[in-house]
Amino acid sequence: MKQRPRRNRRSDTIRRMIKETQLSVNDLVYPLFLVPGEKVKDQIISLPIAYRMSIDTILKEIAECIKLGLNQFILFPSIPEVDKDTTATYSYQDNNFYLTAAKTIKSKYPKVCLISDVAMDPYSSDGHDGLVRDGHILNDESLPILAKMAVAQAQSGFDIIAPSDMMDGRVAYIRNALDEAGYSHIGIMSYTAKYASAFYGPFRDALDSAPKAGDKKTYQMDPANSREALLEGDLDVAEGADFIMVKPAIHYLDIISKCKRRYNTPIAAYHVSGECAQLLAASRLGWLDYDSAMPEAVLSIKRAGADIIITYFAKEVANLLSHGKV
Ligand code: PBG
Repeated sequence: MKQRPRRNRRSDTIRRMIKETQLSVNDLVYPLFLVPGEKVKDQIISLPIAYRMSIDTILKEIAECIKLGLNQFILFPSIPEVDKDTTATYSYQDNNFYLTAAKTIKSKYPKVCLISDVAMDPYSSDGHDGLVRDGHILNDESLPILAKMAVAQAQSGFDIIAPSDMMDGRVAYIRNALDEAGYSHIGIMSYTAKYASAFYGPFRDALDSAPKAGDKKTYQMDPANSREALLEGDLDVAEGADFIMVKPAIHYLDIISKCKRRYNTPIAAYHVSGECAQLLAASRLGWLDYDSAMPEAVLSIKRAGADIIITYFAKEVANLLSHGKV
């Protein structure tokens, strides 16, 4: 045998030398769930690594992350039921607790990058990402609401706006609204290929944001499709998206890979709640070794082509990286 691939696996040092993919703390984005109140740190039962936190608790969490070199966060609000309505008005209400929290975080830690989801579901009494009429999710009528939400978020100091609603034309509409309001410097991370996935369960538990009726299949993509992701991507790039996101990540590594080849924007991937929960559950049952399985899962997302990985494990990976363990 002239070729013996095992020669390059012979020692730890050689293996390190030929490593094609290396996780970095700069790749990671840490999702945080915000609730009103004080001193709240409420564990999410179906995702026991994550918590609903009040702003004081979140500030402590962010401080710990910064110490580990982790400076990128995506925030989600858990809105009290009384503040939800059919048109998601709370989402752009002046001084709502979510927008106020962003201002507080940015004034205390100006260097952090804060990303915000844009979709109606956490604020909607219907629990859908767009406006509901007679059981239908209206596309064009949802766009002005999403645009108002995006502008309010930019005003509050968010650095990147991440439309996650999958309405057609929303990237162009939001881009235009941001530009007109003087926020041409604020980027858009589009949830480009967001699938109608069962793996969002724990997230919906965290925000109590599950649809009250029906499902999200008329706007989120069919898990069976991959060419359609490229149709979405072509549109998003043409409409001005600064980042292309694939979601979920682990079950859609092929889509990440295809997007990486086709687009010159950075590619983000969302390692979603259910994917993280699956790994946690098996580890807690003693069926998987968490310390090696968790970083392997996150690494696979980068190897597939993601430049940015949104994961509930971000802080733990940052911790492992700081100890040279991954
Ligand atoms: C809101 C939104 C969802 C997630 C991110 N933004 C849920 C959904 O579309 O139902 C899921 C994230 C996760 O599961 O971790 N549109």
